[in-house]
Amino acid sequence: MSAPELIRDPREWQRRCREARQAGRRIALVPTMGYLHDGHLSLMREARRRAGADGLALATIFVNPTQFGPQEDLSRYPRDLSGDLAKCGQAGVDRVLAPEASAVYHPLHESWVDVTSVSQGLCGASRPGHFRGVATVVMKLLHLSHPDVALFGEKDWQQLQVIRAMVRDLDLDVEIAGMPIIREQDGLAMSSRNAYLSAEERVRALSLSRALFEAGARARGGERRAAALQAGARAALEGAGVRVDYVEVVQPETLRPVAEAAPGSRMLVAGFVGRTRLIDNVGLP
Ligand code: PAJ
Repeated sequence: MSAPELIRDPREWQRRCREARQAGRRIALVPTMGYLHDGHLSLMREARRRAGADGLALATIFVNPTQFGPQEDLSRYPRDLSGDLAKCGQAGVDRVLAPEASAVYHPLHESWVDVTSVSQGLCGASRPGHFRGVATVVMKLLHLSHPDVALFGEKDWQQLQVIRAMVRDLDLDVEIAGMPIIREQDGLAMSSRNAYLSAEERVRALSLSRALFEAGARARGGERRAAALQAGARAALEGAGVRVDYVEVVQPETLRPVAEAAPGSRMLVAGFVGRTRLIDNVGLP
Protein backbone atom coordinates (compact mmCIF):
# COMPACT_ATOMS: atom_id res chain seq x y z
CA MET A 1 0.00 0.00 0.00
CA SER A 2 1.13 3.55 -0.66
CA ALA A 3 2.69 5.96 1.82
CA PRO A 4 0.18 7.91 3.89
CA GLU A 5 -0.17 11.64 3.58
CA LEU A 6 1.67 13.46 6.37
CA ILE A 7 -0.06 16.48 7.84
CA ARG A 8 1.70 18.68 10.40
CA ASP A 9 -0.88 21.35 11.07
CA PRO A 10 -3.79 20.37 13.36
CA ARG A 11 -6.05 23.01 11.78
CA GLU A 12 -5.44 21.65 8.29
CA TRP A 13 -6.07 18.13 9.63
CA GLN A 14 -9.35 19.25 11.15
CA ARG A 15 -10.45 20.94 7.94
CA ARG A 16 -9.59 17.87 5.86
CA CYS A 17 -11.42 15.58 8.29
CA ARG A 18 -14.47 17.83 8.11
CA GLU A 19 -14.44 17.65 4.30
CA ALA A 20 -14.21 13.86 4.41
CA ARG A 21 -17.06 13.64 6.88
CA GLN A 22 -19.23 15.96 4.78
CA ALA A 23 -18.52 13.72 1.79
CA GLY A 24 -19.99 10.86 3.84
CA ARG A 25 -16.72 9.00 4.43
CA ARG A 26 -16.35 6.87 7.58
CA ILE A 27 -13.38 7.82 9.76
CA ALA A 28 -11.41 5.45 12.00
CA LEU A 29 -8.69 6.95 14.21
CA VAL A 30 -5.65 5.44 15.95
CA PRO A 31 -3.86 7.84 18.32
CA THR A 32 -0.22 6.90 19.07
CA MET A 33 3.03 8.33 20.33
CA GLY A 34 4.95 6.66 17.49
CA TYR A 35 7.93 4.30 17.41
CA LEU A 36 5.40 1.87 16.04
CA HIS A 37 5.37 -1.88 16.65
CA ASP A 38 2.94 -4.68 15.79
CA GLY A 39 0.64 -3.67 18.67
CA HIS A 40 0.08 -0.27 17.08
CA LEU A 41 -0.16 -1.82 13.62
CA SER A 42 -2.89 -4.24 14.71
CA LEU A 43 -4.96 -1.17 15.68
CA MET A 44 -4.24 0.44 12.32
CA ARG A 45 -5.20 -2.63 10.31
CA GLU A 46 -8.46 -2.80 12.24
CA ALA A 47 -9.00 0.93 11.61
CA ARG A 48 -8.52 0.27 7.88
CA ARG A 49 -11.06 -2.56 8.06
CA ARG A 50 -13.59 -0.49 10.01
CA ALA A 51 -13.25 2.58 7.81
CA GLY A 52 -14.05 0.45 4.76
CA ALA A 53 -12.77 0.95 1.24
CA ASP A 54 -14.36 4.40 0.89
CA GLY A 55 -13.53 5.56 4.40
CA LEU A 56 -10.46 7.09 5.99
CA ALA A 57 -8.04 5.24 8.28
CA LEU A 58 -6.21 7.90 10.28
CA ALA A 59 -3.33 7.75 12.72
CA THR A 60 -1.74 10.40 14.89
CA ILE A 61 1.87 10.36 16.06
CA PHE A 62 2.43 12.77 18.90
CA VAL A 63 4.60 12.37 21.99
CA ASN A 64 2.23 14.27 24.24
CA PRO A 65 4.23 16.29 26.77
CA THR A 66 1.34 16.80 29.19
CA GLN A 67 1.12 13.10 30.07
CA PHE A 68 4.77 12.89 31.18
CA GLY A 69 5.84 13.77 34.71
CA PRO A 70 8.90 15.95 35.33
CA GLN A 71 11.07 12.93 36.16
CA GLU A 72 9.81 10.85 33.22
CA ASP A 73 11.18 9.96 29.79
CA LEU A 74 9.65 12.69 27.56
CA SER A 75 12.98 13.89 26.14
CA ARG A 76 14.36 10.41 25.52
CA TYR A 77 11.12 8.81 24.32
CA PRO A 78 12.09 6.91 21.12
CA ARG A 79 11.19 8.53 17.80
CA ASP A 80 11.37 7.38 14.16
CA LEU A 81 8.92 9.33 12.00
CA SER A 82 10.07 8.10 8.60
CA GLY A 83 10.05 4.46 9.71
CA ASP A 84 6.63 5.00 11.31
CA LEU A 85 5.17 6.47 8.12
CA ALA A 86 6.29 3.44 6.11
CA LYS A 87 4.65 1.13 8.69
CA CYS A 88 1.44 3.18 8.65
CA GLY A 89 1.34 2.85 4.87
CA GLN A 90 1.74 -0.91 5.06
CA ALA A 91 -1.09 -1.09 7.60
CA GLY A 92 -3.39 0.79 5.22
CA VAL A 93 -3.43 4.19 6.97
CA ASP A 94 -4.43 7.03 4.63
CA ARG A 95 -3.28 10.06 6.62
CA VAL A 96 -1.00 10.73 9.58
CA LEU A 97 -1.07 13.78 11.81
CA ALA A 98 2.35 14.43 13.37
CA PRO A 99 2.21 17.90 14.90
CA GLU A 100 4.67 19.94 16.93
CA ALA A 101 3.72 20.33 20.58
CA SER A 102 3.52 24.10 20.04
CA ALA A 103 0.80 23.52 17.41
CA VAL A 104 -1.21 21.30 19.76
CA TYR A 105 -0.99 23.39 22.93
CA HIS A 106 -1.64 27.12 22.87
CA PRO A 107 0.83 29.07 25.01
CA LEU A 108 -2.10 30.02 27.26
CA HIS A 109 -3.55 26.48 27.38
CA GLU A 110 -5.60 26.15 30.56
CA SER A 111 -8.38 23.62 29.92
CA TRP A 112 -8.09 20.04 31.11
CA VAL A 113 -10.16 16.86 31.12
CA ASP A 114 -10.10 15.23 34.52
CA VAL A 115 -11.62 11.75 34.78
CA THR A 116 -11.65 11.71 38.53
CA SER A 117 -12.18 8.21 39.86
CA VAL A 118 -10.81 5.69 37.41
CA SER A 119 -7.65 7.80 36.95
CA GLN A 120 -6.76 7.32 40.58
CA GLY A 121 -4.76 4.37 41.84
CA LEU A 122 -2.57 2.00 39.81
CA CYS A 123 -0.64 4.07 37.22
CA GLY A 124 -2.46 7.20 38.38
CA ALA A 125 -0.92 6.85 41.83
CA SER A 126 2.67 6.67 40.65
CA ARG A 127 2.20 9.04 37.69
CA PRO A 128 0.25 12.04 39.04
CA GLY A 129 -1.35 14.05 36.24
CA HIS A 130 -0.64 11.36 33.66
CA PHE A 131 -4.26 10.51 32.88
CA ARG A 132 -5.28 14.16 32.88
CA GLY A 133 -2.73 14.63 30.10
CA VAL A 134 -3.94 11.52 28.27
CA ALA A 135 -7.65 12.41 28.53
CA THR A 136 -7.00 15.98 27.44
CA VAL A 137 -4.95 15.08 24.38
CA VAL A 138 -7.34 12.30 23.36
CA MET A 139 -10.24 14.75 23.69
CA LYS A 140 -8.35 17.19 21.46
CA LEU A 141 -7.52 14.49 18.90
CA LEU A 142 -11.17 13.41 18.82
CA HIS A 143 -12.27 17.01 18.23
CA LEU A 144 -9.64 17.47 15.53
CA SER A 145 -10.58 14.26 13.72
CA HIS A 146 -14.26 13.66 14.64
CA PRO A 147 -13.95 9.92 13.92
CA ASP A 148 -16.78 7.39 13.88
CA VAL A 149 -14.54 5.01 15.80
CA ALA A 150 -11.27 5.41 17.72
CA LEU A 151 -9.15 2.35 18.54
CA PHE A 152 -7.10 1.77 21.68
CA GLY A 153 -5.13 -1.20 23.00
CA GLU A 154 -6.00 -3.23 26.08
CA LYS A 155 -2.26 -3.12 26.84
CA ASP A 156 -2.99 0.21 28.55
CA TRP A 157 -6.05 -1.10 30.37
CA GLN A 158 -6.45 1.81 32.78
CA GLN A 159 -6.04 4.32 29.94
CA LEU A 160 -8.78 2.53 28.00
CA GLN A 161 -11.15 2.79 30.98
CA VAL A 162 -10.30 6.48 31.46
CA ILE A 163 -11.13 7.16 27.80
CA ARG A 164 -14.36 5.15 27.95
CA ALA A 165 -15.44 7.07 31.06
CA MET A 166 -14.66 10.40 29.39
CA VAL A 167 -16.68 9.47 26.28
CA ARG A 168 -19.57 8.27 28.45
CA ASP A 169 -19.61 11.27 30.77
CA LEU A 170 -19.06 14.02 28.20
CA ASP A 171 -21.45 12.64 25.51
CA LEU A 172 -18.78 12.24 22.86
CA ASP A 173 -20.23 10.90 19.63
CA VAL A 174 -17.60 8.24 18.97
CA GLU A 175 -17.29 4.49 19.36
CA ILE A 176 -14.28 3.40 21.41
CA ALA A 177 -12.90 0.03 20.29
CA GLY A 178 -10.58 -1.85 22.66
CA MET A 179 -8.13 -4.18 20.97
CA PRO A 180 -6.29 -7.22 22.41
CA ILE A 181 -2.68 -7.04 23.59
CA ILE A 182 -0.12 -8.04 20.96
CA ARG A 183 2.85 -9.91 22.45
CA GLU A 184 6.32 -10.99 21.38
CA GLN A 185 6.64 -14.74 20.74
CA ASP A 186 7.84 -15.32 24.30
CA GLY A 187 4.91 -13.41 25.83
CA LEU A 188 6.36 -9.94 26.51
CA ALA A 189 3.73 -7.31 25.71
CA MET A 190 4.93 -5.14 22.83
CA SER A 191 5.76 -1.59 23.89
CA SER A 192 7.78 1.29 22.47
CA ARG A 193 9.56 1.35 25.85
CA ASN A 194 10.92 -2.18 25.30
CA ALA A 195 13.53 -0.39 23.14
CA TYR A 196 15.11 0.88 26.38
CA LEU A 197 15.85 -2.64 27.67
CA SER A 198 19.33 -4.13 27.63
CA ALA A 199 19.63 -7.82 26.71
CA GLU A 200 19.76 -8.74 30.39
CA GLU A 201 16.76 -6.50 31.24
CA ARG A 202 14.83 -7.99 28.32
CA VAL A 203 15.10 -11.39 30.05
CA ARG A 204 13.90 -9.96 33.37
CA ALA A 205 11.02 -8.15 31.63
CA LEU A 206 9.56 -11.50 30.64
CA SER A 207 8.58 -12.03 34.28
CA LEU A 208 5.67 -9.58 33.91
CA SER A 209 3.74 -11.65 31.37
CA ARG A 210 4.86 -14.89 33.03
CA ALA A 211 3.53 -13.76 36.42
CA LEU A 212 0.21 -12.81 34.84
CA PHE A 213 -0.16 -16.06 32.92
CA GLU A 214 0.76 -17.99 36.05
CA ALA A 215 -1.93 -16.14 38.02
CA GLY A 216 -4.39 -16.92 35.23
CA ALA A 217 -3.51 -20.60 35.47
CA ARG A 218 -3.95 -20.57 39.25
CA ALA A 219 -7.33 -18.85 38.87
CA ARG A 220 -8.36 -21.49 36.34
CA GLY A 221 -7.25 -24.08 38.87
CA GLY A 222 -9.70 -22.65 41.42
CA GLU A 223 -7.71 -20.02 43.35
CA ARG A 224 -10.08 -17.04 43.54
CA ARG A 225 -8.51 -15.09 46.44
CA ALA A 226 -7.05 -11.88 45.02
CA ALA A 227 -4.52 -11.62 47.86
CA ALA A 228 -3.11 -15.06 47.09
CA LEU A 229 -2.93 -14.38 43.34
CA GLN A 230 -1.27 -11.01 43.94
CA ALA A 231 1.26 -12.41 46.42
CA GLY A 232 2.26 -15.14 43.97
CA ALA A 233 2.74 -12.67 41.12
CA ARG A 234 4.63 -10.21 43.31
CA ALA A 235 7.02 -12.92 44.50
CA ALA A 236 7.68 -14.01 40.91
CA LEU A 237 8.40 -10.44 39.84
CA GLU A 238 10.65 -9.67 42.78
CA GLY A 239 12.43 -12.97 42.29
CA ALA A 240 13.24 -11.86 38.74
CA GLY A 241 14.63 -8.54 39.97
CA VAL A 242 11.67 -6.36 38.98
CA ARG A 243 10.95 -3.42 41.30
CA VAL A 244 7.18 -3.81 41.65
CA ASP A 245 5.01 -0.71 41.45
CA TYR A 246 1.71 -2.54 41.82
CA VAL A 247 0.08 -5.94 41.37
CA GLU A 248 -3.70 -5.77 41.64
CA VAL A 249 -6.79 -7.77 40.80
CA VAL A 250 -9.54 -5.30 39.94
CA GLN A 251 -13.04 -4.92 38.63
CA PRO A 252 -12.34 -4.32 34.92
CA GLU A 253 -14.33 -1.10 34.41
CA THR A 254 -14.11 0.77 37.70
CA LEU A 255 -10.65 -0.65 38.53
CA ARG A 256 -11.71 -1.03 42.15
CA PRO A 257 -9.78 -3.79 43.90
CA VAL A 258 -11.68 -7.04 44.43
CA ALA A 259 -11.18 -9.59 47.20
CA GLU A 260 -12.22 -12.52 45.03
CA ALA A 261 -11.49 -12.86 41.33
CA ALA A 262 -14.70 -13.18 39.34
CA PRO A 263 -15.10 -13.84 35.60
CA GLY A 264 -13.89 -10.69 33.84
CA SER A 265 -11.69 -9.54 36.72
CA ARG A 266 -8.40 -8.19 35.49
CA MET A 267 -4.95 -8.53 36.98
CA LEU A 268 -2.78 -5.48 36.32
CA VAL A 269 0.96 -5.15 37.00
CA ALA A 270 3.51 -2.37 36.73
CA GLY A 271 7.17 -2.53 37.61
CA PHE A 272 10.59 -1.16 36.89
CA VAL A 273 13.14 -3.26 35.02
CA GLY A 274 16.23 -1.13 35.56
CA ARG A 275 15.05 2.41 34.80
CA THR A 276 12.30 1.28 32.47
CA ARG A 277 8.74 1.19 33.74
CA LEU A 278 6.66 -1.57 32.12
CA ILE A 279 2.98 -2.48 32.45
CA ASP A 280 0.92 -5.49 31.48
CA ASN A 281 -2.44 -7.05 32.34
CA VAL A 282 -4.55 -10.12 31.77
CA GLY A 283 -8.19 -11.10 32.09
CA LEU A 284 -8.79 -13.76 34.73
CA PRO A 285 -10.93 -16.74 33.75
P1 PAJ B 1 1.17 4.59 22.69
O1 PAJ B 1 1.85 4.07 23.89
O2 PAJ B 1 1.99 4.91 21.48
O3 PAJ B 1 0.04 3.57 22.29
C1 PAJ B 1 -0.86 3.87 21.25
C2 PAJ B 1 -1.96 2.81 21.26
O4 PAJ B 1 -1.40 1.53 20.98
C3 PAJ B 1 -2.66 2.72 22.62
O5 PAJ B 1 -4.05 2.57 22.43
C4 PAJ B 1 -2.03 1.46 23.21
O6 PAJ B 1 -2.85 0.81 24.14
C5 PAJ B 1 -1.83 0.63 21.97
N1 PAJ B 1 -0.83 -0.41 22.20
C6 PAJ B 1 0.44 -0.25 22.68
N2 PAJ B 1 1.06 -1.44 22.82
C7 PAJ B 1 0.16 -2.37 22.43
C8 PAJ B 1 0.19 -3.81 22.36
N3 PAJ B 1 1.27 -4.51 22.70
N4 PAJ B 1 -0.92 -4.45 21.92
C9 PAJ B 1 -2.02 -3.75 21.57
N5 PAJ B 1 -2.11 -2.40 21.62
C10 PAJ B 1 -1.04 -1.73 22.04
O7 PAJ B 1 -1.09 5.10 24.55
C11 PAJ B 1 -0.55 6.06 24.04
O8 PAJ B 1 0.39 5.95 23.04
C12 PAJ B 1 -0.89 7.49 24.43
O9 PAJ B 1 -1.20 7.54 25.79
C13 PAJ B 1 -2.04 8.11 23.59
C14 PAJ B 1 -3.35 7.34 23.76
C15 PAJ B 1 -1.64 8.15 22.10
C16 PAJ B 1 -2.28 9.57 24.07
O10 PAJ B 1 -1.13 10.33 23.98
